[in-house]
Amino acid sequence: GILDRMLTMDRKEEALAKKLNLQFCRIVPGDTDDSKEILDILGEHAVEVFDELLPEGAFVVAVAGGSTMLAMAQHMTTELSEQRHFTFVPARGGLGDLMAIQANSVSDSMAQATGGSNTALFVPDDLSEEALNLLKNEPSILQTMNLMKQANCLLYSIGSAKVMMERRKMPAELKAILVEKQAVGEAFGCYFDDKGRIVHRLSRFGLQIEDVAAIPYAIAIAGGSSKANAIQAYSHIAPEHTWLVTDEGAANSILKGI
Ligand code: G3H
Repeated sequence: GILDRMLTMDRKEEALAKKLNLQFCRIVPGDTDDSKEILDILGEHAVEVFDELLPEGAFVVAVAGGSTMLAMAQHMTTELSEQRHFTFVPARGGLGDLMAIQANSVSDSMAQATGGSNTALFVPDDLSEEALNLLKNEPSILQTMNLMKQANCLLYSIGSAKVMMERRKMPAELKAILVEKQAVGEAFGCYFDDKGRIVHRLSRFGLQIEDVAAIPYAIAIAGGSSKANAIQAYSHIAPEHTWLVTDEGAANSILKGI
């Protein structure tokens, strides 16, 4: 069971899990900020943890975007599907210009790698209320949103607020507001400060931060000393059953007190 697997944490991992009030932490050597190779290793370990956490069965896996998620997708294989069946669904629409790191692309890559199926969500991540209301009954969007609601597994990263503001080309006025409100991190379209208080929420299709609590298998993958702040801040919002895969860069900063 999950408790047996928790015993595989070493001392530092246990200390981190305790400090962040999370059920399980895995710490990969190195600092993702230093090289792509460490990010790749983080992705590899995330797949191992995913394999350890998930029992046999059928899973609807909601998948976020970003370079960390892409690194994870690159390590998935059909071995994961030996006793399982996967249906992947992107947890959000598109943002920025890099196609490989869109939730849509990551979700499709994971489906291809594991022999599972994929459902797409063709919509920009950030929409006006009007556009959101107009589109919400479009059959293809409705179908994906319904599948997303059935997700029993979730794979996502935690973004640094600054990086995510740039990636989504946020208007300067809004960036200034978020800086003033001291946003340090972003997840599921919510920007939060170091106490985990949500200071800005985008109107968008996709999984909401409140949905995470009801998803039994949830893994957050985020590393790099530059994300230490964001990870610690997010831990105030994260449900306790969250499993975190991180690296020494982030873990050491969090443990010594940022
Ligand atoms: O959706 C983006 C993630 O939260 C962070 O992206 O893995 O490229 O840092 P990243």
